[in-house]
Amino acid sequence: PPYKVVVCRNLGPDVMPLLENRHEFELVVWPEDRACDRTWLLENIAGATGVIVMLTDKVDTELLDKAGPSLRVVSTMSVGHEHIDLKAAAQRALKVGYTPDVLTDAGKSALHPCSSTLMNFCAVADLSVMLALMAGRNGGIGAALVQNGEWSNFSWAPFGFCGPQLSTTATSPTRKIGFLGFGRIAQATLARLVPFGITHCLYSSGPSSPPNLQRDAELEKKYNLKAVAKVDLDELARESDVLFVLAPGGSGTYHVVNEGLLKKMKKTSIIVNASRGTLVDSDALAKALKEGWIWGAGLDVVEGEPNVTRDHPLVKEPRCVIVPHIASATLETRKSMATRAAHNLIAAIFGENMPAEVDLSAFYRMVNDGPHR
Ligand code: GLV
Ligand code: GLV
Repeated sequence: PPYKVVVCRNLGPDVMPLLENRHEFELVVWPEDRACDRTWLLENIAGATGVIVMLTDKVDTELLDKAGPSLRVVSTMSVGHEHIDLKAAAQRALKVGYTPDVLTDAGKSALHPCSSTLMNFCAVADLSVMLALMAGRNGGIGAALVQNGEWSNFSWAPFGFCGPQLSTTATSPTRKIGFLGFGRIAQATLARLVPFGITHCLYSSGPSSPPNLQRDAELEKKYNLKAVAKVDLDELARESDVLFVLAPGGSGTYHVVNEGLLKKMKKTSIIVNASRGTLVDSDALAKALKEGWIWGAGLDVVEGEPNVTRDHPLVKEPRCVIVPHIASATLETRKSMATRAAHNLIAAIFGENMPAEVDLSAFYRMVNDGPHR
């Protein structure tokens, strides 16, 4: 077959046939059910035309040089792409595919019967709301103590396990939701919170927020909010009752949630991170929780994951709920992501339009002599 295609993880019986049925492909698939070994990948990438990677696979100049000039496309089964050296990809005139819209659009727009707001299918937004609720309501520690057989030590108590309420009430009629990063996933999260009676939405657009943001007034009207406002990080920290961190990873957002920001937050506030662990300084967050600068945290991602053990400072904090990077983990979404990754690769190899291509134009401009092979 003319095209060698390396696949860093078996994509399962529904998606693999998309690749297997292409007689033009010589498929080389990482055979094990764990993240692909770097050494295996370096050995097998030589002469490949395309590669499907996971967010656990680093795509750097070493790997791209091993692949050699045959390589045309790197397709990642993720919306995040900070594990790929985009400048190096641009220098080699590669196409890079990712899976953005299946994380927000797979179900198209369903009319929500209660709020009549347009709500896009978004597994990551669903989980972000789950984390906010779990962190606020002691869901993590509550479930853990029952599983440890300890419920009998905690009979129902008037103020046992109480936490800040997400929904507004007559006595507490204001809820301000903050977003650090206000792209597709953040806006889908906002849509889900409208029925909780939130009144204000504040956001600080991360460095890679999409340029086609809706005007604030439009969002205010769409969701019937008192205010939707773009603010600086200071105000975002000071005002948010729940702060959702949903900006891309990479060097531009490294430790944007640090001691300085956490110190400005309300003592009753909750922080949720469903983006990348690198955005949050873990030591600072653990200190904030221990010393009561904020109320709780819900994390889908932690810097240095998956090496997060029992003695990690955040695991030791009872008001920190951590789940192991599962925000997109619904069968529907993962199947769409794997399918999208396969279609991106196939389209790039056959010179067709990719369903979702990472825009490398900024990197082409950085590369003096333009794309070359
Ligand atoms: C998951 O974290 C993704 O980037 O898709
Ligand atoms: C709680 O379970 C109640 O009955 O109020």
